[in-house]
Amino acid sequence: MARLRVGVLISGRGSNLQALIDAAADPAYPAEIVTVISNRAEARGLARAAAARIAHVAVADTGRAAFAAAADRALRAAGVELVALAGFMRILDTGFVEAWADRMVNIHPSLLPAFPGLHPQRQALAAGVKFSGCTVHFVRAEVDTGPIVAQAVVPVEDGDDEDRLAARILAAEHRLYPFAIRLYAEKRLRIEGERVFVTGGAAPQLALLNPSEELT
Ligand code: GRF
Repeated sequence: MARLRVGVLISGRGSNLQALIDAAADPAYPAEIVTVISNRAEARGLARAAAARIAHVAVADTGRAAFAAAADRALRAAGVELVALAGFMRILDTGFVEAWADRMVNIHPSLLPAFPGLHPQRQALAAGVKFSGCTVHFVRAEVDTGPIVAQAVVPVEDGDDEDRLAARILAAEHRLYPFAIRLYAEKRLRIEGERVFVTGGAAPQLALLNPSEELT
């Protein structure tokens, strides 16, 4: 069967892009990355795309509408069916978001709707939560909102600082994003209002406690 054609928008490091590239290296994975677009020419993710022989382009960021128009052209030219934002740090033009509604996903390093926006790991530590994590969601006009596809829970440890928590959440992101896109590619997702139902998806049964009941 033809694989889902995914276009990835990045701004920087591109480790989530790399996780998607690695997943798609398996021919059995139901999606392929056909193009990578960056709003920053120096984004490290562009080199990752080049190394994987994936078409990639830096689109000059000359304003919200101009960027959206150029990105939209590039995505359509590549026959993209799903847009994946992966560390894309620019607010997108509303028309672009509406044009790709239900065909554009984002990954955010918190359990949304907690801690949207910048520095979610810092926000989590400041709030004193015992769990944070990451969220893949469909993109809506308001930043870090939209129907949630999947989340991964990451416990906050007493010794965490922002970098340590971010690294642990990032490892979860690298599992979650390829999984969520696989669910989309397999047409398992049904959006009803704010909720996304996953065909064949089951919730884990156990609650997690942090601290664990196993005291030392
Ligand atoms: C990730 O934490 C992602 O959730 C957030 O920005 C970071 C991007 O990292 N939106 P990378 O560029 O994928 O390495």
